[in-house]
Amino acid sequence: MKDRQNIHGSWASRWVFIMAATGSAVGLGNIWKFPYIAGQNGGGAFVLVYLLFILAVGVPIMMAEVLVGRRGRQSPINSMREVALEAGHSPNWSMVGWVGALAGFLIFSFYSVVAGWVLAYVAAMGNGEFLDIGSEQAGKAFSHLLADPQALLIWHSVFVVLVMVVLMGGVNKGLERATKIMMPALFVLLLLLLGYSMTSGSFGEGVEFLFHFDPSELSWDAVLVALGHSFFTLSLGMGSIMAYGSYMPKSASIGGTVLTIAALDTIVALVAGMAIFPIVFANSLDPGAGPGLMFITLPVAFGHMPGGQIFGFLFFVLVALAAWTSAISLMEPGVAWMVEKFGLKRGPVCIILGLLVWLLGIAALSSFNFGSDIALFGMNIFDFLDFVTANIFLPLGGLFVAVFTGWILHQRITRDELAVVTPAYYLAWSVTIRYIAPIAVTAIFIFNLIEKLG
Ligand code: PFF
Ligand code: NA
Repeated sequence: MKDRQNIHGSWASRWVFIMAATGSAVGLGNIWKFPYIAGQNGGGAFVLVYLLFILAVGVPIMMAEVLVGRRGRQSPINSMREVALEAGHSPNWSMVGWVGALAGFLIFSFYSVVAGWVLAYVAAMGNGEFLDIGSEQAGKAFSHLLADPQALLIWHSVFVVLVMVVLMGGVNKGLERATKIMMPALFVLLLLLLGYSMTSGSFGEGVEFLFHFDPSELSWDAVLVALGHSFFTLSLGMGSIMAYGSYMPKSASIGGTVLTIAALDTIVALVAGMAIFPIVFANSLDPGAGPGLMFITLPVAFGHMPGGQIFGFLFFVLVALAAWTSAISLMEPGVAWMVEKFGLKRGPVCIILGLLVWLLGIAALSSFNFGSDIALFGMNIFDFLDFVTANIFLPLGGLFVAVFTGWILHQRITRDELAVVTPAYYLAWSVTIRYIAPIAVTAIFIFNLIEKLG
C-alpha cells in the first residue's frame, strides 16, 4: 500500500509519536480534573467505571483515530474525507473533523483559563507565598485569584501566546524536545509528591476513597462524567490524536503504541489522585470541593514539606508544561486544516485562531467574577463549556469515529493499518469498536436523557 506524505511533516520515530501523544494526553485532565471529578462523584465506583471506559472505549477509539489520521495524512477534517472517499463513501464524513475542530476550540478557551491559574501559582510558589499556609488560607488565596479578572486575563493571555508561538514553529521541533524532557520530570515530581502524601498520615483514607467499590453511589450522571472524562483525558473525539497520527511513521504498530500512551495517562491520573486525596483528608478538606481542589491542597502540602517552596515551584511549572503540550494539540487540527485549505503559512493562521480562542477564554474567565450571573442551562460559562465539550462533543465525536472505522471502512483498510499479525488482536479491536464502544456511548446518552426528562 502506498503511503501518502504529510505536508506538515512527520515524527522522527514511533517513540517520538508516543512522547507527543502522551504530551497531548497528559495534562490538566489528569492532575487537575481527574481528582476533582472523582472527589465530586464519591471516588471508588466512579474511578473503576472510568478505568473500564479507558480500556473498553478509549483504547479502541484511540487506535481508530490514529489509523484514520495515518491513512489520510492530513488534518482530521481532510483525512476523514479522504479516507471515506477511499472506501467509496460520502466525503461528508469530514463533518466529524469539523465538529472536532470546534470542540478543540471550545475546550481550549477554558483550558487556557485553568492553565492561567497554574501560571499564577508558579509565580506565587516562586515568591514563597504559601510557606506554612493553612488550608483555610489556601482556599482564600484561590478565591482571591478567581475574583480578580485582570490577573486571570494576564495569565490566560500569556498561556495563549505560549501555545501559539509553538504552533507557529510547527509541531515537530520544539515540541518533540520539550516533551522528552518534561514527561520524565513530571513523573519524578509526581512520585515525590506521592511520597509526601504517603507520610502525611491519611494515605490509607485517600486510597480507600479512590478505590473502594460501592456501586450504589453511582448515578447515570456520574457514569456520563466518567465516560466524558475518558475521552477528555486521552484527547479523543475531537481530532487531536488523529492529527498526531497523521504524522506517525507507517512502520510503527498502532496497538502497542496506543496501549503505552493510555497506560501512561492513566498512571499519571491515579498517582495525582493518590497524592491529592490524603492531603484532603489530613487537612479535613472537602473532596467534593470542585475545580479548586488541586489549587487548595497542593499549596498546603508544599507549604509544609521540607524544600516545599522549590518543589512546589517546580511542580506547578511542570503542570504548566503538561497543560501547554496538551493545549498545542487542541489547536493543531484547526491550524493544519487552515493551512491546507487556504494555503496560508502557520504564522497568520495561529494569529487568527489565537485571537479567537483568546476572546472566548475571556468569556470563560468572567464566570468567576464579572460574568458570574450569566447562566447557560443552569451553569456558568466555564462549567457549560466544560460540560458540553467533555460530556457531549467528545463522546459523540468518538461514536462517529467508531462507527466509521468499524462499520464504514473496509476491513482491508483497517487490517492494513493495524498491521494485523494475530487474528485475536484484530478480533478484539473490531468487537470493541463495532459493538462495545458505540453501544456504551449510545446507552449512556439515552439513560441520561431519560433521567433528565423523567
Ligand atoms: N487530554 C488533555 C488532558 O487530559 O489534559 C486535554 C485534551 C487535550 C483534551 C487535547 C482533548 C484534546 F483534544
Ligand atoms: Na489526560
